[in-house]
Amino acid sequence: MRYLVTGIAGFIGSHIAEALVERGHEVRGLDNFATGSRQNLEPFIEEIEFVEGDIRDLDTCRQVCQGVDYVIHQAALGSVPRSLRDPLTCHEVNATGTLHMLISARDAGVEAFVAASSSSVYGNTDTLPKHEGMKRRPLSPYAASKVAAENHLEIFASAYGLATVGLRYFNIFGPRQSPDGPYAAVIPRFIRQMRAGDTPTIFGDGEQSRDFTYVANAVRANLLAVERASQVAGTVINVGCGERISLNVLYRRIARQVGFDKGARQGDRRPGDVKHSLADITRACDLVGYSASIGLDEGLARTVEWFNGEWPDTSLAPPRRREHVTT
Ligand SMILES: NC(=O)c1ccc[n+]([C@@H]2O[C@H](COP(=O)([O-])OP(=O)(O)OC[C@H]3O[C@@H](n4cnc5c(N)ncnc54)[C@H](O)[C@@H]3O)[C@@H](O)[C@H]2O)c1
Repeated sequence: MRYLVTGIAGFIGSHIAEALVERGHEVRGLDNFATGSRQNLEPFIEEIEFVEGDIRDLDTCRQVCQGVDYVIHQAALGSVPRSLRDPLTCHEVNATGTLHMLISARDAGVEAFVAASSSSVYGNTDTLPKHEGMKRRPLSPYAASKVAAENHLEIFASAYGLATVGLRYFNIFGPRQSPDGPYAAVIPRFIRQMRAGDTPTIFGDGEQSRDFTYVANAVRANLLAVERASQVAGTVINVGCGERISLNVLYRRIARQVGFDKGARQGDRRPGDVKHSLADITRACDLVGYSASIGLDEGLARTVEWFNGEWPDTSLAPPRRREHVTT
């Protein structure tokens, strides 16, 4: 089977591609390296067809969809703060880019289209856990762009019969997630800073909580969603662990694993951030047979180990050995 993975040079896309290659599938990948890296492609670049291109270009999307059976669409610009700074680019990539991919997949006769959505579409809900029946209340341009993309996924299933599935990721983390720059996710940022002896900042009081989900669980969710896409077309499905911890607790757990003994710096609460996040994964279990097989502690241990072995404190040298994510 031939798969197209967009955002293949990114954190999650590269793990999905690697899992597909390991299972013997043909893989084509699309990325423009906006936030991804060639290093992420290194472990499997010889075994895939890679196209450097932008999902904002409809012709590129049409070309890469030719001859493809399944699309796993990960390309997007992440980060709430980035979207607040540049809402237009966020919309162009995440919403219009997804629409380009959907049009191209439909016209190329693709069998299934699985796309990355986000738990941020829920915003602040009155109750936890967050389930797919809840009203979406986006708090940022990023969340709004994912709502728009989800709407298109649903319409392409109902109006054109394309087997689409949207996966609402809840704070995915693991090896290869970038620790760099102002938009880095919290786990790689904490690990990197603590390993370098720098004190990380927690924005707000640290009592905000998240359902941190190890990347292998997200990879598995994608493979399962592709398999079941025709039965569940037009749905959105939470992908999380079903457990949450506060950032203060997360900080202490990472500090323990890294051997860092200083307390966090306190920063201002960031606009657009939701207070609590916890996935109800019942639908994922019922519809696609998903379970979070790797929990937070195991995932954190693997991630810290990866940073210890692969990413020295003093340099950003590329990973030298092939890391392995068990799915
Ligand atoms: N990591 C998380 O916790 C999380 C949570 C919710 C949703 N998501 C979603 O999951 C997907 C993957 O996220 P990630 O964490 O791997 O991020 P990432 O930044 O590592 O990967 C995104 C990839 O998309 C590529 N890309 C960006 N704009 C592009 C464009 N215009 N054309 C082609 N490629 C482009 C980037 O270069 C990058 O390689 C995204 O859709 C993101 O919104 C991630």
